[in-house]
Amino acid sequence: MSSQPALQQSRAEHLASLTLDQLAEVLDGLTAEQGRQLLYDWRGFNARPDQIAPDGDWEIWLALAGRGWGKTETGAQWVRERVEAGARSIALVAETQKDLEEVMVARLLAIYPPEQAPKVRYKPVRITWPDGAVALGYNGTEPNQLRGPEFDTAWVDELAKYRYAQETWDMLQFALRGTAIEPRQIITTTPRPIELIKNIVAGKEGKVHITRGKTADNRTNLAASFLARIDKRYAGTRLGRQELSGEILGDLPGALWSLANLDSYRLPDAPALRRIVVSVDPAVTNTEDSDYHGIIVAGVAEDQRGIVLEDASIQGSPMDWAKRAISLYRSHEADAIVIEVNQGGDMVASVLRSVDASLPIEEVRASRGKYVRAEPVAALYEQGRVHHVGAFTELEDQMATFTPERAADRSDGYSPDRVDALVWALSALFPMMIEKVERKAYVPPPPPFGGNSWMGR
Ligand SMILES: Nc1ncnc2c1ncn2[C@@H]1O[C@H](COP(=O)(O)OP(=O)(O)OP(=O)(O)O)[C@@H](O)[C@H]1O
Ligand SMILES: [Mg+2]
Repeated sequence: MSSQPALQQSRAEHLASLTLDQLAEVLDGLTAEQGRQLLYDWRGFNARPDQIAPDGDWEIWLALAGRGWGKTETGAQWVRERVEAGARSIALVAETQKDLEEVMVARLLAIYPPEQAPKVRYKPVRITWPDGAVALGYNGTEPNQLRGPEFDTAWVDELAKYRYAQETWDMLQFALRGTAIEPRQIITTTPRPIELIKNIVAGKEGKVHITRGKTADNRTNLAASFLARIDKRYAGTRLGRQELSGEILGDLPGALWSLANLDSYRLPDAPALRRIVVSVDPAVTNTEDSDYHGIIVAGVAEDQRGIVLEDASIQGSPMDWAKRAISLYRSHEADAIVIEVNQGGDMVASVLRSVDASLPIEEVRASRGKYVRAEPVAALYEQGRVHHVGAFTELEDQMATFTPERAADRSDGYSPDRVDALVWALSALFPMMIEKVERKAYVPPPPPFGGNSWMGR
């Protein structure tokens, strides 16, 4: 080529920046087949320099970057290079089974010319290359599946969001002992500031090479509408520094909770519980991008510790949240469903009773502001009296950014529905802390569902 790409440009991007004359000169020399090969040439053509595996004797390559930077692409391409370099056994680890199949496996197949793509089998995920290399798939909700097999290579996508990040990581480290090639792993993730990520960055988990990146680095490969959308959502916000710039944020001053505190009291399994509740905090509006309906399942252990079992918050119609809450009430054999009586509490109770008239519904009253009523709950956390079973990424992000100012001001799109439901659940479980409303006398259920316009779709 007539000139060299700029520092953080791929050759493909460089080509796109040439004049027509320069371009003609380059393309003239290419056959159609060579042109097709370029499409699939990562190292020599498509990759930006920081998307290529670095030199050196690192054990862990940690790519911490903003949304859409090309994390998944980088991970998939690195796996391809590892197979070419002699890897025989590869672990692919995703946040969930769905992400494993729809994000990781899909990308891994897409980066090959169709005739060279490895073969994939699902349930469980198993990918086989023509030379005999095999990749097996796992997810961060079932760390025990990693017990047993041996790998020489691992690709871990979005580690910072796993329900069981630490456990999954620990299991994987025991399994990385294959001998075909020196074991190595890549982690491609948005940098949520959980302890594990901080430890890896600090070199406590092995020799690490860290690559940082911003969403904008990949702008030539992202739709303008996507860039505009996430810019609108995050630009100028603190979360934007994490989601767009790939920064690891410290604790937010004034926030009621810190991720470090949540991390230090996390449990892998729930102890025996003497009381369990499902709490529901329905969103008021019901449009496609409206707020989530907060739904939290929590319990109290014999020794008076609070245990958060599930964040099952969803978007949807009143019927959707009602069914979800009732199904959780049944599957957890809960003692009650907790709702707030102020904001349309009667409506919430009657939606639930229209599905099941016999539900034990417990009502709590919001007599004080959001922040003030959350404070005693946060105090319990500070004393180490509340534990999360695994991690709840969205809930915990809301908790760690819950400040008096933000609780009062919804103008930046912050709406802590999950925190609200959490506060109701723990308030019902630790009743000393909240003014409780006497349980109302039984009210007969309203007419069958669908008859009332406020019930939505
Ligand atoms: N160097 C590159 N050349 C061409 N396309 C690229 C390059 N890097 C990434 N892409 C493309 O950019 C898009 C975004 O990349 P990718 O999905 O890997 O980003 P991500 O950081 O994993 O995003 P998310 O934060 O959503 O998980 C994809 O279509 C991907 O194929
Ligand atoms: Mg990705």
